[in-house]
Amino acid sequence: MAEWIPAPGLQVAIDGPSGSGKGTVAAMLARKLGLPVLDTGLLYRFVGWKLAALGVPLDDEAAVLAALDAALADMRWREDGILDGEQNVTAALRGEDVGRLASKVAAMPEVRARLLEVQRRCAESGCVMDGRDIGSTVLPGAQAKFFLTASERERARRRWRQLRERDPEIDLDAVHHDIRMRDAQDAERAHSPLKQAEDAIRIDSTTLRVDEVVDRMLAIMERRGLIRRAEPA
Ligand code: DC
Repeated sequence: MAEWIPAPGLQVAIDGPSGSGKGTVAAMLARKLGLPVLDTGLLYRFVGWKLAALGVPLDDEAAVLAALDAALADMRWREDGILDGEQNVTAALRGEDVGRLASKVAAMPEVRARLLEVQRRCAESGCVMDGRDIGSTVLPGAQAKFFLTASERERARRRWRQLRERDPEIDLDAVHHDIRMRDAQDAERAHSPLKQAEDAIRIDSTTLRVDEVVDRMLAIMERRGLIRRAEPA
């Protein structure tokens, strides 16, 4: 049972760069609030992955836009990940290679506009949503907005630990380099770059555990009257 009762339709936006811990934090927070959690990075990953699988050159924006509807036709975005037809393809979307494809399509304004509709529809009845532009663009009316950061080296280390489960040989410096490149690509793009919303609360998680970050968020939301403690059964 959820430990907290959220106000009806509560939307919580969590943004931040790769490795800031936003995915893990969003999942724990959503569980405590009894809300669905939606990872928007997966959507961009799916689009990059699917278009590449269809043989569409991702440097050719016109070709990407022409194939976008076909790529999304059989996609279903759920709390447990993304389905392509009947197949849950989430695990295949998590690698650094797919992250690079995602970052390319995420720089295209028309791709973002199309995915904006999908994200808003899914968030309508309340959720915890994590991404890069949730507080600023996707859900500007979200009642709670957080911007998670951590030092670049710590973010690289976290990604490296995750990736090592699939590839024990993976090199920390290579992951660090990748994170730096992707941060630059995400922060420098003209449309909806990674940016802290003005009304978002910034939390630096470099030296905090996941549960400490979540506790801070819960305390802030309780103070603002957005959530209340559930009565023990
Ligand atoms: O969070 P992630 O690594 O799964 O995100 C994959 C890519 O998608 C990343 O390069 C940034 C992009 N992205 C975005 O532009 N906007 C979002 N709301 C989520 C992800």
